[in-house]
Amino acid sequence: MDTRQTLRMMSIAGARPNFMKLAAIAHAVEEYNGLTEKQVNIEHMIVHTGQHYDSKMSANFFADLGIPEPDVNLNIGSGSHACQTADIMKAFEPVLLENMPDVLLVVGDVNSTIACSLVASKIAYPHEARHRVRPVIVHVEAGLRSNDRSMPEEINRVLTDAISDFLFVTEQSGLDNLRAEGVAADKMHFAGNVMIDTLINHLEKAKKSKVKENLGVSGEYVVVTLHRPSNVDTKESLAPLIALLEQVAEKCKVVFPVHPRTLNKLDDFSLLQHLRDNENVILSGPLGYLDFLNLISEARAVITDSGGIQEETTYLQVPCITLRENTERPVTVSEGSNYLAGLDIDVIWSTFCSVLEGRGKASRIPDLWDGRSGFRIVAQIVEDCAV
Ligand code: UD1
Repeated sequence: MDTRQTLRMMSIAGARPNFMKLAAIAHAVEEYNGLTEKQVNIEHMIVHTGQHYDSKMSANFFADLGIPEPDVNLNIGSGSHACQTADIMKAFEPVLLENMPDVLLVVGDVNSTIACSLVASKIAYPHEARHRVRPVIVHVEAGLRSNDRSMPEEINRVLTDAISDFLFVTEQSGLDNLRAEGVAADKMHFAGNVMIDTLINHLEKAKKSKVKENLGVSGEYVVVTLHRPSNVDTKESLAPLIALLEQVAEKCKVVFPVHPRTLNKLDDFSLLQHLRDNENVILSGPLGYLDFLNLISEARAVITDSGGIQEETTYLQVPCITLRENTERPVTVSEGSNYLAGLDIDVIWSTFCSVLEGRGKASRIPDLWDGRSGFRIVAQIVEDCAV
């Protein structure tokens, strides 16, 4: 076996939920390179777009998760969807041309995901320079569909999948969706969930976090997260949800790490002070990965509009009440501990009460959410992309 060949892979990270996925890939590359019997040596380069930039939203995750420092940071920052996506594309093109990787790996569904894969799909490496015209595009966490085109992430998912060469899915619905969209069977692989790899690898460390002492949390508590624009960007949508949290806080302590988008909106709509004054509501800024994992792993329940938290709670078998009308992660409802409660306050309340009273459903951990997904993906990339 020829071990002298090098496969040059570039991975993109941009926003908070990308970092947990990238961590699993980075560690799997290290594991692969450590094998004595291997097809190639993988040279792994990380590009951070800077979509998220505050240390609490970015650098702390790299530290907590042991991800190597990004080789390049595009430092894009916030902006409208069009500006942010365009700025990433403009800054990324020269980086791609300079480095000419064999493989471009993107994860998830954020603006950085579509921006970088779109650049790669149309790039032309100089003829004389490389044996490839453009990189092979690999999408990790492909095939998820909420079928709700008002979600920016749904647009990012559909478009990224359409231009990717290899698609790695986390659950059966991903394969079904891609098949229905006409994707050839040999382009897709059911690999499991890289976010769960990272959870499994860090759970023990997370258990040692002092976050509860630091925040003054004792006894039973519920964790709440809210950041979806459709829930937080108008007072009409946010105020009833905050009123509901205050109702929840009458039954059980509420720990609410507030996303920067939500903090701005709470302030704009004069909802912040009232929450601060509620002694059963513990507010914090965005938490690090280990602290947040510690909190959700021991919570009575989690109330959220996040995508990834539905999966993390499913693995932990902690009840999760999702404040959305749809989910792109249906296995978390059909097999996991997730309840799709929608936005009807009465339904959310009755779901919460039944969970709190111990009348929740039984759940199981979905297939291949076993901590080995990153390695499966890396080994398959070598199989599909090494020439
Ligand atoms: C983005 C993703 C979303 C993901 C979420 C996780 C898209 C379309 N959306 O949404 O899928 O679930 O990240 O957090 O890519 N801000 C800061 N500091 C930061 C980053 C953002 O203060 O480090 C503030 C800015 O005011 C910014 C706002 O948060 O305008 C929103 O950030 P942005 O990246 O545009 O979208 P998210 O809501 O975070």
